[in-house]
Amino acid sequence: MRVRVLGSAAGGGYPQWNCNHPNSRRARDPNDAAAIQRTQSSIAVSNDGEHWFLFNASPDLRKQINDNDVLHPKADLRHSPIQGVVLTNADVDHIAGLLNLRESHPLRIYATGKVLDVLKANSVFSVLNPDFVERMPIKLDEPTELVGPDGTASGIHIVPFAVPGKVALWLEDKSKPVDTKAMGEDTVALEVKDDSGKTRFFYVPGCAEMPDWLAARLNGAPMVLFDGTLWRDDEMIISKVGVKTGHRMGHMSLSGEDGTIAAFEPLGVERKIFIHINTTNPVLLEDSPERATANAAGWQVSYDGMEIAL
Ligand code: MLT
Ligand code: MN
Repeated sequence: MRVRVLGSAAGGGYPQWNCNHPNSRRARDPNDAAAIQRTQSSIAVSNDGEHWFLFNASPDLRKQINDNDVLHPKADLRHSPIQGVVLTNADVDHIAGLLNLRESHPLRIYATGKVLDVLKANSVFSVLNPDFVERMPIKLDEPTELVGPDGTASGIHIVPFAVPGKVALWLEDKSKPVDTKAMGEDTVALEVKDDSGKTRFFYVPGCAEMPDWLAARLNGAPMVLFDGTLWRDDEMIISKVGVKTGHRMGHMSLSGEDGTIAAFEPLGVERKIFIHINTTNPVLLEDSPERATANAAGWQVSYDGMEIAL
């Protein structure tokens, strides 16, 4: 199985368009090799190197396709190696890229009933012509093999399961308190396997906390791509760029006693990779002490174009 990281940054990308935080400024300096720009959260997965499924569709998808030759059209005047898209939530950074996939091209979109309802309620997504684009409901905890639009089995099996998280930011009901650690169809993680079940990994781009059952599920996994949004919970506040904590945004942080690095320490995960990293997170900087701490704890920080062979 092959995994290509299309976008390693959180919503907004790195640097975010309106962010003048020192991190973001460094990313705009073409001579700063330790602060590499990143597009928004998405990976592509293939079992044969020819047929690819996107896991989330970021607003940067057009650039991501152009930057990754595996996703270029290869045959005929109209063609794409992209067979479909699996969505893990309905946040802008994960669904807006669907709009790039218009033009009556056959595809399949896999998502929970709740996320499919969000797409259905927004008629702009019908630019993905329903005559060509099939919407496939996935059920929590039910294994599903991803299948191309022509019915070709991919050999990629997913098991979607709920992880603590919240409804998409733009769907929050302002009149009610938001449950930031809800369990349901709004925020899912994916366990991904090949036909044999021996090659497998977890994709968890958003997660608000690490309950014992989740730690047990990830224990001993060959690879986990995990939510790397913030270094510390109050990062936006102390950086003076926002008023929300990571917890309020539905993301656990990398550092601290209840942070991701500590939570993974006893789990014996062979390959630990941060993805969905916010423009303010110092772990983005290759020369930062935070990057050294993450690396020393066995973590890699994903980057756009990173290729992982499993
Ligand atoms: C998140 O992951 O917290 C969201 O992508 C936020 C957003 O939509 O900007
Ligand atoms: Mn996001």
